[in-house]
Order: sequence, then structure tokens, then C-alpha cells
Amino acid sequence: SKNGCARIFSTVVLLALFFLFPYFLQDVHFVLSKLKTRRRLLKYMQTNYSILDRFLDVVKTQPEKPFIHFRDETFTYREADELSNKAARVFLQSGFVKVGDTVALFVSNEPLFVWLWLGLAKIGCSAAFLNYNVRSKSLLHCFSCSGASALVAAAELQDAVEEVLPSLLEQQVTVFILSDKSRTAGVESFKDKMSQASSEPLPKHLRSHLSFQSPAVYIYTSGTTGLPKAAVITYSKLWALVWLLSLSGINSKDVIYVCLPLYHSTGFVGITGAIDQGITVALRSKFSASQFWDDCRKYNVTVIQYIGEIMRYLCNTPKKVNDQSHQVRLAVGNGIRADVWREFVHRFGNVQIREIYGATEGNIILMNYSGKIGAIGRDSFLHRHFHPYALIKYDIVKGEPLRDSSGFCIEAAKGEPGLLVSEISMRTPFLGYVRDLQQTERKKLRDVFKKGDVYFNTGDLMCIDEDNFIYFQDRVGDTFRWKGENVATTEVADVITLADCIKEANVYGVKVPGQEGRAGMAAVALRDGLNFDSADVFKHVENFLPAYARPRFLRIQGSLDVTGTFKHLKVKLTEEGFNPNQITDPLFFLDEKEKDYVPLTPDVFNSVTSGKIKI
Ligand SMILES: *[C@@H]1O[C@H](CO)[C@@H](O)[C@H](O)[C@H]1NC(C)=O
Ligand SMILES: *[C@@H]1O[C@H](CO)[C@@H](O)[C@H](O)[C@H]1NC(C)=O
Ligand SMILES: *[C@@H]1O[C@H](CO)[C@@H](O)[C@H](O)[C@H]1NC(C)=O
Repeated sequence: SKNGCARIFSTVVLLALFFLFPYFLQDVHFVLSKLKTRRRLLKYMQTNYSILDRFLDVVKTQPEKPFIHFRDETFTYREADELSNKAARVFLQSGFVKVGDTVALFVSNEPLFVWLWLGLAKIGCSAAFLNYNVRSKSLLHCFSCSGASALVAAAELQDAVEEVLPSLLEQQVTVFILSDKSRTAGVESFKDKMSQASSEPLPKHLRSHLSFQSPAVYIYTSGTTGLPKAAVITYSKLWALVWLLSLSGINSKDVIYVCLPLYHSTGFVGITGAIDQGITVALRSKFSASQFWDDCRKYNVTVIQYIGEIMRYLCNTPKKVNDQSHQVRLAVGNGIRADVWREFVHRFGNVQIREIYGATEGNIILMNYSGKIGAIGRDSFLHRHFHPYALIKYDIVKGEPLRDSSGFCIEAAKGEPGLLVSEISMRTPFLGYVRDLQQTERKKLRDVFKKGDVYFNTGDLMCIDEDNFIYFQDRVGDTFRWKGENVATTEVADVITLADCIKEANVYGVKVPGQEGRAGMAAVALRDGLNFDSADVFKHVENFLPAYARPRFLRIQGSLDVTGTFKHLKVKLTEEGFNPNQITDPLFFLDEKEKDYVPLTPDVFNSVTSGKIKI
């Protein structure tokens, strides 16, 4: 019959489509999910429904549901509501904080961090989340650039506060310390006042001036290069961050483990994502590889978050018989390497890994939703249609995008690394850094494909393969040139860590007198109890890397310096170079003739810098 024919025909077409475009349905699904969240955003926007409103709704519907487990304490949603009311009252009653002010939090991961943020939101104030590792000048810089008028510090950070107290008091900043008594003039105690304050709800009119465009919080970029900058997270942007978690498949039955810093977007999204779903958070003060799985078992955790090297640290712990006895089903994060993924799943069982790409302040999000190991996302015309972005050719040496004769940028070819840029528009805004127009302007790229357009410069080099999978290559500042070739430091680090004795590697380029570009160097940390096996490392490097990408110098360190979110620090290492007269760590030199890494003695150093040894 005609109908039957049509059915067979459409089935054949669908099958053909499926074989030709096996990822098409997944692409559609991803774009639809994104559109669904956009619709939700528009709906919320009509009533200015914020994450705080969501929190209060959860308090109403399930007051006795545990919100936060921390050490041996559990706080329900109702208790969190009451405690944040108390915190809000301390601010108001102090007379130093007015509705609409910004208050900086200098507090490590503990439930009080959350009560303070909620409390501030309840009185229509914004919170700036200071990294609790910064000190002195950096601390002052971060504080000042948020425009905050008050600072709240954890008791254990009192010394760090006192170091900068004279400057703060000079600027008439109010300083609160989270203890029952203050031992210092000019510093107000907080906890005593909080325990006396009423836990009654705060009137809604205190926050009636807030809209979706009001700043909810300020989150600092990690500052691997230069000083941290404060990114503005409006109530609208906060929803976008929150929905990263729902897009990655978290649901209302989950328990999420948050051990990443709350001052960073990843940790904070763990909390706000939990509020969105009305679920429980197991909060930990600090990531600990040895405690990680014990915590997951103790709190019945089903979802974990990762960033940077966390998965590698977990794989590096000694094997245990109960490695697979846990309920974790989903890991959401960014920066897992393919080899670590394989090892992780092999060792800890069938955990689904959702790799998400997106900067705190950025306006584009990519997600690995297709199961391709190593890929961070998919390039699809659907996605581009709703959200224009591109990979453009980039000149590593000049440090800027290549432009054609009419001054426009050029899209990178398939398989070729390019800089990811994404169009700034009403739908995909870039809100910039607070009080830093210059840095904000620097992240904008103008006249990209036509006169007058503006794109957000992610600063990340990516590559799209024949099947339209997107792979992360390197940070722009990290990739360097040697012998006329681009060296992607993360790729080199991946290869070096394949050697048995190497636990971690941080790769960068160093200046060599008389040579163009930068020669590769790697700072490495060894696996516990293993010696540096120079021949084995050489073998890996020779087998897997082209000559120009092989690190010429190795520097062995007890441990590698990382930021609070486990990103490697490169600037200092790059400046220190490879001079054995100045560096006390053991140094090695790649000797092509010996087919080995040999000790880098002052003699070898002199021969390299004078050009007697050609590298
Ligand atoms: C949302 O906030 C804006 C800005 O304050 C305001 O103009 C608008 O009326 C608010 N909408 C609702 C429904 O309250
Ligand atoms: C974890 O689950 C077990 C079994 O369902 C339950 O007895 C225990 O109370 C749960 N622990 C927490 C912290 O919820
Ligand atoms: C991509 O997602 C799939 C399926 O969830 C997962 O198996 C794979 O590990 C992910 N790849 C990366 C690099 O995250």
C-alpha cells in the first residue's frame, strides 16, 4: 500500500541519516535541552524568580530534608533558612551594611559560607567570594576590585586579615570575624551576635530592587596569569551556571559531594545546583584524595564534581579492596584527560563522566554528551544556529588572531587548532569584570567576521575533527612555538605522565639565548617511592612526541604548585628557566646522542647557552 511504502521509505531515510550522522539525535537532544533551559529562564525572568526564591520554595515544600552534611553535622533546609535569617540580621543590625551593598566573604568551605551568602541575598546585598588562599597585596587587590564595603573573615584567617587591617580601616571598611569575641580593635565579632539574632524571615521588600540584571555574586578568575579578576554573576547568569548541573543529568534523588572551593564557580554551582533540585550536599572543607571515597560512602553520595587534576590524584592513591563499593553514578567537571578517564572507570567502576567546558565569566558552554573519550563537545550547525561561535586561526608568536587582507578573522580548517570565540549578543551576553573595563575590553574581539560584530575571546585553543567532535588543545598563553611548530603543553604533559615513574607534569617553554621561540621544559613530580627512570622517560618522549615537542629540560620537584582549583602555575617556572646555578631542584637535559635525559650540569648549561651544544 501507499502508506506502507511511505513508512518503509521514511524508515530507510532515518536509518541512512543515522548512519551518515550517528550523533545527530544527540546533537538535537543537547540543543533542545539548552532551549528548554532558555525557556525556563524567560519564564523566571517575568517574575524575577531567583535562586533565593527557589531556596525558599524548597524550604516550604520539604523543610526537613537534609540540605548540608558537614563533618558529623546535618542541617536541614529549614535550619539553613533560619541560620541565614540570623546572619542577615547581624549585617543589618550592625548598622554597617545597608541593603544593596556588596560584602566580601573570606571564608573557607563550611556551612556558614552558605548561610552568609543566603543571608546577604535576603537583604538584597551581593557577595564577593574571596579566594581564602590569597594574602597581603593580592588580598587587598581582590577586595578592592569588588567594590565591597565590608569583609567577613573566618576565625582561622584572622592573621591574614590583620596583615592588611590598617589599609582596610583606612578605606573605612567594616571587618567582621566569624568568632564569638574579637581580640582586635576595628574588628567586629559575628558569631555571638548571630546566636542572639532572631531567625524570623526577612521582609521581601528588602530585596525588591533586585532584577535579573543585578549582581548576585562576584567570582574571581583563578589567575594562573596575572592578578585575579572579579567576574560579575548576575541572577540571570547564575541560573545559567546552575543549569549546567541539570543539563549534565543530575536529578532530585541525588546527593552531591562538594569538596571544591565554594569561592570558585565549580564549588558554588554544586550548592546552587543542589538548591535547584532540592537535594542534599555533602560538603567538605577541602579535597582529600585519601578521604574521598570514605566520604562518598558515609553520605551516600551519587554525584561528584571534578576539576583539573582531581581525577588523577584519585587514581594515584593506593588501591583498596572497596574501591568500587560506593553509589557514585555521575562525575561532572572539566579537564579530565582520556588516559585518566580510562583508569578511573576501570578502577572505581561504572561512573558516567560528563565533561563540561565553560569559563565562569564566559558566554559559551560546551558539553561532552556523546560518549567520545577525550572530546569536550560537539560542533553542530544547530548549536551554531542558536549560538554563533567559531574556531579562528591564531598567531601564537604575535599572540593575536590572524586576519585576512580585509581585516577579518579566518576560520580554522578541520583538524587545525583555532581560538574559540563566541558571539556576544543579548541572548549570550558577556558581563565582564567589575571595575575593570580594560580587562573586560581585552576579552572582547571586534570585527571578527563582519564590521561591528563582537565576540568573547575564550583564550582557549581547540580543534574540531572530521566527525565534528571538539577537543581542547591548550590555553593560548600556554602554547609556545619551537622550531616553527606550535607545542600544546597539555598534550606533552599527557605523554610524559605515561612514564611509570612520573606522577604529574607541568609543561612550559623557556627562552634559550640565540634561539627563536621557546624550548620545552617540564616540571615533574615522581610517584611515591619511585626513582627518576631517565631512560624510560626518554623512551616515552621519543616514541610519542615529534622532535620539536620533546621537552629539552626536566625539573624534578617534590610537588607541583597549583592554584586553589588545581591548575598548574607556570609563570614563575618559566621565568626561572633552566639554570642549574640558580635552581636547586635536580635538572636534566635531553641528550639526543645518549638517547637519555642526563643531569644538567653547569658545563652543559654553558654549552647550551653559548650554542656549543645545538638543541
Ligand atoms: C523585575 O525587576 C525589574 C527591575 O527591578 C522590574 O522593573 C520589574 O517590574 C520586576 N518584575 C516583577 C514581576 O517584579
Ligand atoms: C545512607 O543510606 C543508608 C541505607 O539506605 C542509610 O541507612 C543511611 O542513613 C544513609 N546515610 C545518610 C548520611 O544519609
Ligand atoms: C564523554 O562522555 C562519555 C559518556 O558520558 C564518557 O564516557 C566519556 O568519558 C566522556 N569523555 C570525557 C573526556 O569526559
